[in-house]
Amino acid sequence: MTIRSAAGLEEPRLLVRGGNRLSGQVAVSGAKNSALKLMAASLLAPGTSVLHNVPDIQDVLTMQEVLEYLGAIVEFADGTMTVDTSGVQSQVAPYELVQRMRASIQIMGPLVARFGQARVAMPGGCNLGPRKIDIHLRGLAQMGATVRSDHGFVEVRSDRLQAVDMFLDYPSVGATENLLMAAVMAEGTTTLENVAREPEIVDLCKFLISMGADIEGAGSSTVKIHGVEEMHPAEHTVLGDRIEAGTFLIAGALTGGEVEVTGISPHVLDLFLSKLRSVGVRIEENTRSIKASGDIDSYKATDVATLPFPGFPTDLQAQVVVLLSIARGVSVVTENVFENRFGFVDELIRLGAEIRVDGNHAVVTGGRALTGAIVRCPDLRAGAALALAGLVAEGCTELRDVHHIDRGYERFEEKLQGLGAEVERAGACCSL
Ligand code: EPZ
Repeated sequence: MTIRSAAGLEEPRLLVRGGNRLSGQVAVSGAKNSALKLMAASLLAPGTSVLHNVPDIQDVLTMQEVLEYLGAIVEFADGTMTVDTSGVQSQVAPYELVQRMRASIQIMGPLVARFGQARVAMPGGCNLGPRKIDIHLRGLAQMGATVRSDHGFVEVRSDRLQAVDMFLDYPSVGATENLLMAAVMAEGTTTLENVAREPEIVDLCKFLISMGADIEGAGSSTVKIHGVEEMHPAEHTVLGDRIEAGTFLIAGALTGGEVEVTGISPHVLDLFLSKLRSVGVRIEENTRSIKASGDIDSYKATDVATLPFPGFPTDLQAQVVVLLSIARGVSVVTENVFENRFGFVDELIRLGAEIRVDGNHAVVTGGRALTGAIVRCPDLRAGAALALAGLVAEGCTELRDVHHIDRGYERFEEKLQGLGAEVERAGACCSL
């Protein structure tokens, strides 16, 4: 039986057969949550910027469409992207692109800084809950821009942004990035306090500095940006994807195998690794790689609470819930970053997990044997987590709506196959 989408297209599915121990090495791709912002930052300077280690994933292709819509010329092959922004004419991000990918709004700061205006479709909510941009807009308004919304768009205008001292209500990743990119050409020195400290923010600051920006304090909770008159194109290599690394480390731990991820430095995952150790996973750290292995019968319950960096990453919450579903005992997982990030739990229960969600807490009763079933991916990280669950479920698990996974994981099933997993993208049901 072939599943067809509303448009009658055959919907790709991922078929995962459980039971194999995963082992070997896997190289992580460049970080999605950095690459998208570096592409937006290239708008700050006329000319051609070059980005290396760019992951070939759907979200990168969507951001490419956004830049091309504005008039940029983008070439992308074998992980290297050139972005020529000399021909950028438009400062509008259309609804079709923004609703496909929220991160499109990260062009707002660069466009206002370089062209004095930006008109961006308001991003709606998503499966993770309301995704407000009030901190982005308040910051731009404090920098002297006029901000108004009409017809589903937000329009920001300023002949020249003015430096400001601002304390962010919440260390939002997106707001920190947009305000950083807006402030690099503002008049005077901007101080942003209580900002996000994610490694992807540091990567963005490195690129902005190579474009001529003058920034202090990247990675700390206070950054100072001394405004400059102009920026120039630059070249940069995207840092490795810590969320992809964490996903594969859990794949190894879950199957009682031994998986080494390369192309990542362990310090970007400190708290995550210490939680895996508390469960009973053996972790080996090297300068540019991390190895995970363990005996699943020894795994025990552990409480986890997601927080902004350096806290436990919310983008690895679903994956760790799968691990805790097989660990002995009761764990409490608390989601503090997004209001509605347990949407995948019902799908995991279909595979035999025992989880009770109460507000932003999930109570996971572990030590359950999972059995394969048909499940739907509600979003990117939950989709990857359900694939991991399929690796330990008895029989075959069929994942639908895998387009979510393709948004953020490059060659996901090939990499799993390289570690010994029985996984394939297919039309027919469970032929494995
Ligand atoms: C980035 O989203 C990442 N996306 C997310 O990864 C990640 O989960 C998130 O940071 C947290 O680490 C990209 O980088 C493209 P936030 P972002 O602004 O920038 C509230 C993935 O799977 N908030 O830190 O949207 C907001 O509603 C994705 O790769 C406001 O209230 O994250 C949310 O609850 C999913 N007002 C919380 O803060 C604002 O103005 C975190 O949002 C801004 C945010």
